[in-house]
Amino acid sequence: MAYERTLDWNSDAFRGEAYRHYAALRQASPVFLSQPEGQVPIWYVTGAREVEEVLLDSDRFARDPSRIDAQFAAMLGGEQSIAFLNDHMLNRDGESHRRLRRLVNKAFTLKAVNAMRPRIEQIAETLLDAAGPSGRMDVVSQYAFPFSIIVIAELLGVPAQDRDDFRRWSHMIVQQVGQDLSELQRCYSEFAAYMLALIDQRRAQPADDMISALAQVEEEGRMLSRSELCSMIALLIIAGHETSASMIGNAVHMLLQHPATLARLRDEPALMPNAVEEFLRYDSSVERAMVRFVTQDTTLAGQRLQRGQLLIAVVGSANRDEALCANPGTLDIARPVCPHMSFGKGIHYCLGASLARQELEIALNTLLRRCPGLQLAVDPGAIRWRYVPNFRGPDALVVNWSVD
Ligand code: HEM
Repeated sequence: MAYERTLDWNSDAFRGEAYRHYAALRQASPVFLSQPEGQVPIWYVTGAREVEEVLLDSDRFARDPSRIDAQFAAMLGGEQSIAFLNDHMLNRDGESHRRLRRLVNKAFTLKAVNAMRPRIEQIAETLLDAAGPSGRMDVVSQYAFPFSIIVIAELLGVPAQDRDDFRRWSHMIVQQVGQDLSELQRCYSEFAAYMLALIDQRRAQPADDMISALAQVEEEGRMLSRSELCSMIALLIIAGHETSASMIGNAVHMLLQHPATLARLRDEPALMPNAVEEFLRYDSSVERAMVRFVTQDTTLAGQRLQRGQLLIAVVGSANRDEALCANPGTLDIARPVCPHMSFGKGIHYCLGASLARQELEIALNTLLRRCPGLQLAVDPGAIRWRYVPNFRGPDALVVNWSVD
Protein backbone atom coordinates (compact mmCIF):
# COMPACT_ATOMS: atom_id res chain seq x y z
CA MET A 1 0.00 0.00 0.00
CA ALA A 2 2.80 2.36 -0.89
CA TYR A 3 0.48 5.02 -2.29
CA GLU A 4 -1.14 5.61 1.10
CA ARG A 5 2.16 6.75 2.56
CA THR A 6 2.07 9.93 0.53
CA LEU A 7 -1.52 10.90 1.37
CA ASP A 8 -2.46 13.85 3.56
CA TRP A 9 -4.85 12.17 6.02
CA ASN A 10 -6.50 15.49 6.87
CA SER A 11 -7.19 16.62 3.31
CA ASP A 12 -10.58 16.79 1.64
CA ALA A 13 -9.38 14.22 -0.88
CA PHE A 14 -8.70 11.73 1.92
CA ARG A 15 -11.75 12.60 4.01
CA GLY A 16 -14.10 12.30 1.04
CA GLU A 17 -12.96 8.69 0.61
CA ALA A 18 -11.83 7.96 4.16
CA TYR A 19 -13.84 4.79 4.63
CA ARG A 20 -12.63 3.32 1.33
CA HIS A 21 -9.01 4.01 2.37
CA TYR A 22 -9.61 2.49 5.80
CA ALA A 23 -11.21 -0.67 4.33
CA ALA A 24 -8.15 -1.11 2.11
CA LEU A 25 -5.80 -0.54 5.04
CA ARG A 26 -7.65 -2.97 7.32
CA GLN A 27 -7.38 -5.60 4.63
CA ALA A 28 -3.72 -5.05 3.77
CA SER A 29 -2.19 -3.80 6.99
CA PRO A 30 -4.34 -2.98 10.04
CA VAL A 31 -1.23 -1.56 11.72
CA PHE A 32 0.42 0.66 9.15
CA LEU A 33 3.44 2.98 9.31
CA SER A 34 2.78 6.27 7.55
CA GLN A 35 5.83 8.37 6.83
CA PRO A 36 5.21 11.34 4.54
CA GLU A 37 8.43 13.04 3.57
CA GLY A 38 9.92 15.31 6.21
CA GLN A 39 7.38 14.26 8.87
CA VAL A 40 7.61 12.11 11.98
CA PRO A 41 6.51 8.51 11.21
CA ILE A 42 3.19 7.49 12.78
CA TRP A 43 1.65 4.03 13.14
CA TYR A 44 -2.02 4.11 12.13
CA VAL A 45 -4.11 1.31 13.62
CA THR A 46 -7.29 0.63 11.65
CA GLY A 47 -8.47 -2.89 12.64
CA ALA A 48 -11.17 -3.09 15.35
CA ARG A 49 -9.36 -5.70 17.45
CA GLU A 50 -6.09 -3.78 17.30
CA VAL A 51 -7.75 -0.41 18.06
CA GLU A 52 -9.37 -1.98 21.12
CA GLU A 53 -6.05 -3.53 22.20
CA VAL A 54 -4.32 -0.13 22.01
CA LEU A 55 -7.01 1.83 23.86
CA LEU A 56 -7.31 -0.74 26.63
CA ASP A 57 -3.56 -0.98 27.26
CA SER A 58 -2.32 2.32 28.67
CA ASP A 59 0.82 0.57 29.99
CA ARG A 60 2.16 -0.12 26.51
CA PHE A 61 0.42 2.77 24.73
CA ALA A 62 0.62 5.88 26.90
CA ARG A 63 -0.80 9.36 26.58
CA ASP A 64 1.81 10.88 28.87
CA PRO A 65 4.97 11.60 26.85
CA SER A 66 7.13 11.84 29.96
CA ARG A 67 6.87 8.03 30.19
CA ILE A 68 9.10 7.90 27.11
CA ASP A 69 11.61 10.62 27.54
CA ALA A 70 11.69 13.71 29.75
CA GLN A 71 13.30 15.77 27.01
CA PHE A 72 10.60 14.90 24.50
CA ALA A 73 7.89 15.67 27.06
CA ALA A 74 9.49 19.02 27.85
CA MET A 75 9.54 19.87 24.19
CA LEU A 76 5.85 18.99 23.85
CA GLY A 77 5.00 20.85 27.05
CA GLY A 78 6.71 23.82 25.46
CA GLU A 79 6.06 27.31 26.59
CA GLN A 80 4.37 28.30 29.80
CA SER A 81 1.06 29.14 28.11
CA ILE A 82 0.91 25.74 26.37
CA ALA A 83 1.70 23.92 29.60
CA PHE A 84 -1.13 25.86 31.21
CA LEU A 85 -3.60 24.26 28.83
CA ASN A 86 -2.08 20.79 28.40
CA ASP A 87 -1.78 19.66 32.01
CA HIS A 88 -5.03 17.68 31.90
CA MET A 89 -6.35 14.12 32.37
CA LEU A 90 -6.28 13.19 28.70
CA ASN A 91 -2.51 13.73 28.78
CA ARG A 92 -1.96 11.58 31.89
CA ASP A 93 -2.07 7.89 32.70
CA GLY A 94 -2.37 5.77 35.86
CA GLU A 95 -3.02 7.29 39.29
CA SER A 96 -2.33 10.80 38.09
CA HIS A 97 -5.14 10.43 35.53
CA ARG A 98 -7.52 8.83 38.06
CA ARG A 99 -7.01 11.66 40.52
CA LEU A 100 -8.04 14.34 38.00
CA ARG A 101 -10.92 12.36 36.53
CA ARG A 102 -12.45 11.64 39.97
CA LEU A 103 -12.90 15.36 40.49
CA VAL A 104 -15.31 15.85 37.61
CA ASN A 105 -16.91 12.41 37.26
CA LYS A 106 -19.97 13.29 39.33
CA ALA A 107 -20.96 16.23 37.18
CA PHE A 108 -21.26 13.96 34.16
CA THR A 109 -23.30 11.06 35.57
CA LEU A 110 -26.49 10.16 33.68
CA LYS A 111 -28.56 11.56 36.56
CA ALA A 112 -26.76 14.91 36.52
CA VAL A 113 -27.02 15.11 32.75
CA ASN A 114 -30.73 14.22 32.73
CA ALA A 115 -31.37 17.15 35.05
CA MET A 116 -30.07 19.45 32.31
CA ARG A 117 -32.48 18.17 29.66
CA PRO A 118 -35.09 20.99 29.85
CA ARG A 119 -32.43 23.68 29.55
CA ILE A 120 -30.73 21.91 26.62
CA GLU A 121 -34.10 21.67 24.85
CA GLN A 122 -34.64 25.37 25.38
CA ILE A 123 -31.23 26.19 23.86
CA ALA A 124 -32.08 24.23 20.69
CA GLU A 125 -35.49 25.92 20.38
CA THR A 126 -34.00 29.41 20.81
CA LEU A 127 -31.41 28.86 18.10
CA LEU A 128 -34.06 27.63 15.68
CA ASP A 129 -36.33 30.58 16.57
CA ALA A 130 -33.50 32.83 15.34
CA ALA A 131 -32.88 30.87 12.13
CA GLY A 132 -36.49 29.82 11.51
CA PRO A 133 -38.06 32.72 9.59
CA SER A 134 -35.64 32.46 6.66
CA GLY A 135 -36.07 28.70 6.19
CA ARG A 136 -32.35 28.48 5.47
CA MET A 137 -29.23 28.17 7.61
CA ASP A 138 -25.77 26.73 7.86
CA VAL A 139 -26.36 23.88 10.33
CA VAL A 140 -22.70 23.96 11.45
CA SER A 141 -22.22 27.65 12.31
CA GLN A 142 -25.80 28.64 13.15
CA TYR A 143 -26.97 25.59 15.04
CA ALA A 144 -24.49 22.82 15.93
CA PHE A 145 -21.62 24.98 17.22
CA PRO A 146 -23.59 27.62 19.16
CA PHE A 147 -25.75 24.84 20.66
CA SER A 148 -22.80 22.78 21.89
CA ILE A 149 -20.84 25.80 23.11
CA ILE A 150 -23.76 27.22 25.10
CA VAL A 151 -24.44 23.83 26.74
CA ILE A 152 -20.87 23.30 27.93
CA ALA A 153 -20.39 26.98 28.85
CA GLU A 154 -23.49 26.93 31.05
CA LEU A 155 -22.49 23.64 32.66
CA LEU A 156 -19.07 25.01 33.57
CA GLY A 157 -20.15 28.55 34.36
CA VAL A 158 -18.21 30.23 31.57
CA PRO A 159 -19.97 33.34 30.24
CA ALA A 160 -21.71 32.20 27.05
CA GLN A 161 -21.33 35.67 25.54
CA ASP A 162 -17.60 34.96 25.20
CA ARG A 163 -18.36 31.98 22.96
CA ASP A 164 -16.92 33.53 19.79
CA ASP A 165 -13.59 33.74 21.57
CA PHE A 166 -13.71 30.08 22.72
CA ARG A 167 -14.66 28.95 19.29
CA ARG A 168 -11.69 30.81 17.76
CA TRP A 169 -9.19 29.59 20.39
CA SER A 170 -10.53 26.08 20.37
CA HIS A 171 -10.47 25.81 16.56
CA MET A 172 -6.86 26.94 16.41
CA ILE A 173 -5.84 24.49 19.12
CA VAL A 174 -7.52 21.45 17.54
CA GLN A 175 -6.40 22.43 14.07
CA GLN A 176 -2.69 22.83 14.89
CA VAL A 177 -1.39 21.74 11.51
CA GLY A 178 -0.57 24.28 8.84
CA GLN A 179 -0.88 27.23 11.19
CA ASP A 180 1.29 30.23 11.78
CA LEU A 181 3.17 29.30 14.97
CA SER A 182 3.17 32.80 16.43
CA GLU A 183 -0.61 32.99 15.88
CA LEU A 184 -1.04 29.64 17.64
CA GLN A 185 1.16 30.83 20.47
CA ARG A 186 -0.89 34.00 20.84
CA CYS A 187 -4.06 31.92 20.91
CA TYR A 188 -2.72 29.67 23.70
CA SER A 189 -1.68 32.74 25.70
CA GLU A 190 -5.04 34.47 25.30
CA PHE A 191 -6.97 31.34 26.24
CA ALA A 192 -4.77 30.71 29.31
CA ALA A 193 -5.02 34.36 30.45
CA TYR A 194 -8.81 34.27 30.08
CA MET A 195 -9.08 31.05 32.11
CA LEU A 196 -6.78 32.27 34.86
CA ALA A 197 -8.75 35.51 35.27
CA LEU A 198 -11.99 33.52 35.45
CA ILE A 199 -10.56 31.12 38.05
CA ASP A 200 -9.34 34.01 40.22
CA GLN A 201 -12.71 35.70 39.96
CA ARG A 202 -14.57 32.50 41.03
CA ARG A 203 -12.12 31.89 43.87
CA ALA A 204 -12.90 35.38 45.17
CA GLN A 205 -16.65 35.15 44.52
CA PRO A 206 -17.80 31.53 44.18
CA ALA A 207 -20.96 30.91 42.14
CA ASP A 208 -23.11 27.78 41.77
CA ASP A 209 -21.13 26.33 38.87
CA MET A 210 -18.42 23.80 38.07
CA ILE A 211 -15.55 26.27 37.79
CA SER A 212 -16.23 27.55 41.32
CA ALA A 213 -16.52 23.98 42.61
CA LEU A 214 -13.23 22.97 41.01
CA ALA A 215 -11.52 26.14 42.18
CA GLN A 216 -12.46 25.26 45.77
CA VAL A 217 -11.67 21.59 45.58
CA GLU A 218 -9.04 19.98 47.68
CA GLU A 219 -8.20 16.47 46.55
CA GLU A 220 -6.69 14.31 49.28
CA GLY A 221 -5.19 17.34 50.95
CA ARG A 222 -3.79 18.75 47.69
CA MET A 223 -5.35 21.68 45.94
CA LEU A 224 -5.39 21.40 42.18
CA SER A 225 -2.49 23.38 40.80
CA ARG A 226 -3.33 26.46 38.72
CA SER A 227 -2.17 24.76 35.54
CA GLU A 228 -4.20 21.59 36.34
CA LEU A 229 -7.29 23.67 36.96
CA CYS A 230 -6.81 25.83 33.89
CA SER A 231 -6.11 22.77 31.71
CA MET A 232 -9.09 20.85 33.08
CA ILE A 233 -11.48 23.67 32.17
CA ALA A 234 -9.88 24.15 28.75
CA LEU A 235 -10.17 20.39 28.08
CA LEU A 236 -13.83 20.36 29.08
CA ILE A 237 -14.56 23.32 26.83
CA ILE A 238 -12.70 21.92 23.84
CA ALA A 239 -13.61 18.21 24.19
CA GLY A 240 -17.11 19.24 25.23
CA HIS A 241 -18.08 21.16 22.13
CA GLU A 242 -15.84 20.42 19.12
CA THR A 243 -16.91 16.78 19.21
CA SER A 244 -20.67 17.23 19.77
CA ALA A 245 -20.93 20.08 17.28
CA SER A 246 -19.20 18.12 14.52
CA MET A 247 -21.25 15.05 15.40
CA ILE A 248 -24.51 17.01 14.96
CA GLY A 249 -23.15 18.14 11.57
CA ASN A 250 -22.27 14.55 10.62
CA ALA A 251 -25.68 13.23 11.70
CA VAL A 252 -27.56 15.87 9.69
CA HIS A 253 -25.28 15.14 6.73
CA MET A 254 -26.09 11.41 7.02
CA LEU A 255 -29.83 12.14 7.16
CA LEU A 256 -29.66 14.35 4.08
CA GLN A 257 -27.77 11.62 2.23
CA HIS A 258 -30.37 9.03 3.30
CA PRO A 259 -33.83 10.62 2.77
CA ALA A 260 -35.72 7.41 3.63
CA THR A 261 -33.94 7.32 7.01
CA LEU A 262 -34.80 10.98 7.58
CA ALA A 263 -38.48 10.33 6.79
CA ARG A 264 -38.55 7.28 9.06
CA LEU A 265 -36.98 9.13 11.97
CA ARG A 266 -39.42 12.00 11.58
CA ASP A 267 -42.33 9.51 11.70
CA GLU A 268 -40.87 7.42 14.51
CA PRO A 269 -39.02 9.75 16.92
CA ALA A 270 -38.86 6.88 19.45
CA LEU A 271 -36.09 5.46 17.25
CA MET A 272 -33.85 8.44 18.07
CA PRO A 273 -31.69 6.91 20.87
CA ASN A 274 -30.95 3.92 18.63
CA ALA A 275 -30.36 6.18 15.63
CA VAL A 276 -27.86 8.27 17.62
CA GLU A 277 -25.76 5.15 18.32
CA GLU A 278 -25.84 4.24 14.64
CA PHE A 279 -24.83 7.80 13.61
CA LEU A 280 -21.94 7.64 16.07
CA ARG A 281 -20.84 4.33 14.63
CA TYR A 282 -21.31 5.13 10.97
CA ASP A 283 -19.56 8.51 10.87
CA SER A 284 -18.03 9.57 14.17
CA SER A 285 -16.83 13.11 14.79
CA VAL A 286 -13.81 11.63 16.58
CA GLU A 287 -12.30 9.80 13.64
CA ARG A 288 -9.01 9.08 15.41
CA ALA A 289 -8.11 8.92 19.09
CA MET A 290 -5.33 11.14 20.41
CA VAL A 291 -1.80 10.05 19.61
CA ARG A 292 -0.28 7.37 21.89
CA PHE A 293 3.41 6.88 22.70
CA VAL A 294 4.75 3.31 22.55
CA THR A 295 6.39 2.73 25.96
CA GLN A 296 8.26 -0.52 25.14
CA ASP A 297 9.34 -2.50 22.09
CA THR A 298 6.30 -4.58 21.25
CA THR A 299 4.36 -6.37 18.50
CA LEU A 300 0.90 -5.48 17.21
CA ALA A 301 -0.78 -7.44 14.40
CA GLY A 302 2.63 -8.79 13.44
CA GLN A 303 4.28 -5.36 13.21
CA ARG A 304 7.27 -4.56 15.39
CA LEU A 305 6.79 -1.26 17.21
CA GLN A 306 9.65 0.48 18.98
CA ARG A 307 9.68 2.37 22.25
CA GLY A 308 9.14 6.08 21.61
CA GLN A 309 7.21 5.67 18.37
CA LEU A 310 3.88 7.44 17.82
CA LEU A 311 0.65 5.59 17.19
CA ILE A 312 -2.92 6.63 16.34
CA ALA A 313 -5.96 4.38 16.83
CA VAL A 314 -8.46 5.13 14.07
CA VAL A 315 -11.80 4.57 15.78
CA GLY A 316 -13.73 5.61 12.64
CA SER A 317 -12.16 2.68 10.84
CA ALA A 318 -12.71 0.24 13.72
CA ASN A 319 -16.42 1.14 13.62
CA ARG A 320 -16.62 -0.06 10.02
CA ASP A 321 -14.79 -3.34 10.67
CA GLU A 322 -16.85 -6.49 10.05
CA ALA A 323 -15.26 -7.93 13.17
CA LEU A 324 -17.36 -5.41 15.10
CA CYS A 325 -20.66 -5.46 13.25
CA ALA A 326 -22.46 -7.07 10.28
CA ASN A 327 -22.89 -4.94 7.14
CA PRO A 328 -20.84 -2.10 8.62
CA GLY A 329 -21.11 0.01 5.46
CA THR A 330 -24.93 0.24 5.77
CA LEU A 331 -26.58 2.97 7.83
CA ASP A 332 -29.46 1.23 9.63
CA ILE A 333 -31.03 3.20 12.48
CA ALA A 334 -33.30 0.31 13.50
CA ARG A 335 -30.62 -2.37 13.87
CA PRO A 336 -29.66 -3.68 17.32
CA VAL A 337 -26.94 -1.31 18.52
CA CYS A 338 -23.44 -2.21 17.24
CA PRO A 339 -20.76 -1.81 19.91
CA HIS A 340 -18.93 1.18 18.37
CA MET A 341 -15.73 2.79 19.69
CA SER A 342 -16.62 6.42 19.04
CA PHE A 343 -16.31 7.28 22.73
CA GLY A 344 -13.03 5.40 23.03
CA LYS A 345 -12.27 2.55 25.45
CA GLY A 346 -10.36 2.03 28.66
CA ILE A 347 -9.23 4.72 31.08
CA HIS A 348 -9.83 7.65 28.72
CA TYR A 349 -13.38 6.54 27.77
CA CYS A 350 -15.27 9.74 27.02
CA LEU A 351 -16.24 11.53 30.23
CA GLY A 352 -19.05 13.34 28.43
CA ALA A 353 -20.65 10.34 26.64
CA SER A 354 -24.04 10.69 28.40
CA LEU A 355 -24.08 14.43 27.81
CA ALA A 356 -23.11 13.96 24.16
CA ARG A 357 -25.86 11.38 23.58
CA GLN A 358 -28.42 13.67 25.14
CA GLU A 359 -27.25 16.69 23.14
CA LEU A 360 -27.46 14.72 19.90
CA GLU A 361 -30.95 13.42 20.63
CA ILE A 362 -32.25 16.87 21.51
CA ALA A 363 -30.52 18.73 18.66
CA LEU A 364 -31.77 16.25 16.04
CA ASN A 365 -35.31 15.84 17.43
CA THR A 366 -35.78 19.60 17.59
CA LEU A 367 -34.38 20.14 14.10
CA LEU A 368 -36.61 17.47 12.54
CA ARG A 369 -39.70 18.73 14.32
CA ARG A 370 -39.11 22.40 13.55
CA CYS A 371 -37.83 22.10 9.97
CA PRO A 372 -40.24 20.20 7.70
CA GLY A 373 -38.92 19.38 4.23
CA LEU A 374 -35.31 19.72 5.40
CA GLN A 375 -32.91 19.40 2.49
CA LEU A 376 -29.42 20.30 1.39
CA ALA A 377 -29.30 23.75 -0.23
CA VAL A 378 -25.98 23.18 -1.98
CA ASP A 379 -24.46 20.62 -4.31
CA PRO A 380 -23.42 17.58 -2.18
CA GLY A 381 -20.06 17.65 -3.98
CA ALA A 382 -19.42 21.16 -2.60
CA ILE A 383 -19.30 19.96 1.02
CA ARG A 384 -15.84 20.37 2.55
CA TRP A 385 -14.49 18.66 5.65
CA ARG A 386 -12.90 20.57 8.50
CA TYR A 387 -9.13 20.44 8.21
CA VAL A 388 -8.42 19.05 11.68
CA PRO A 389 -6.24 16.08 12.57
CA ASN A 390 -8.46 13.92 14.79
CA PHE A 391 -11.97 15.19 14.30
CA ARG A 392 -14.28 14.73 11.38
CA GLY A 393 -17.16 17.01 10.45
CA PRO A 394 -18.43 19.22 7.65
CA ASP A 395 -17.01 22.72 7.47
CA ALA A 396 -20.44 24.05 6.56
CA LEU A 397 -23.80 22.44 5.78
CA VAL A 398 -26.30 24.83 4.26
CA VAL A 399 -29.86 23.53 4.37
CA ASN A 400 -33.33 24.87 3.68
CA TRP A 401 -36.83 23.82 4.68
CA SER A 402 -40.45 24.82 4.15
CA VAL A 403 -41.79 27.81 6.04
CA ASP A 404 -45.52 28.64 6.20
C1 HEM B 1 -20.28 13.12 20.04
C2 HEM B 1 -19.53 13.70 20.94
C3 HEM B 1 -18.27 13.13 21.52
C4 HEM B 1 -17.43 12.16 21.03
C5 HEM B 1 -17.56 11.37 19.74
C6 HEM B 1 -16.36 12.02 22.00
C7 HEM B 1 -15.32 11.11 21.87
C8 HEM B 1 -14.30 10.95 22.80
C9 HEM B 1 -13.22 10.00 22.67
C10 HEM B 1 -13.02 9.03 21.51
C11 HEM B 1 -12.44 10.12 23.76
C12 HEM B 1 -11.17 9.32 24.06
C13 HEM B 1 -9.98 9.94 23.35
C14 HEM B 1 -8.74 9.08 23.43
O1 HEM B 1 -8.72 8.02 24.10
O2 HEM B 1 -7.75 9.48 22.80
C15 HEM B 1 -13.00 11.18 24.59
C16 HEM B 1 -12.46 11.60 25.78
C17 HEM B 1 -12.97 12.66 26.49
N1 HEM B 1 -14.15 13.34 26.25
FE1 HEM B 1 -15.42 13.04 24.71
N2 HEM B 1 -16.56 12.89 23.03
C18 HEM B 1 -17.72 13.58 22.79
C19 HEM B 1 -18.30 14.53 23.60
C20 HEM B 1 -17.80 14.98 24.79
C21 HEM B 1 -18.45 15.93 25.66
C22 HEM B 1 -19.81 16.59 25.43
C23 HEM B 1 -17.62 16.13 26.71
C24 HEM B 1 -17.94 17.03 27.86
C25 HEM B 1 -17.17 17.55 28.68
C26 HEM B 1 -16.44 15.29 26.52
C27 HEM B 1 -15.33 15.21 27.34
C28 HEM B 1 -14.29 14.31 27.20
C29 HEM B 1 -13.16 14.26 28.12
C30 HEM B 1 -12.91 15.16 29.31
C31 HEM B 1 -12.34 13.22 27.67
C32 HEM B 1 -11.03 12.74 28.31
C33 HEM B 1 -11.33 11.65 29.32
C34 HEM B 1 -10.09 11.08 30.00
O3 HEM B 1 -8.97 11.38 29.59
O4 HEM B 1 -10.29 10.32 30.96
N3 HEM B 1 -16.59 14.60 25.34
N4 HEM B 1 -14.16 11.65 23.98
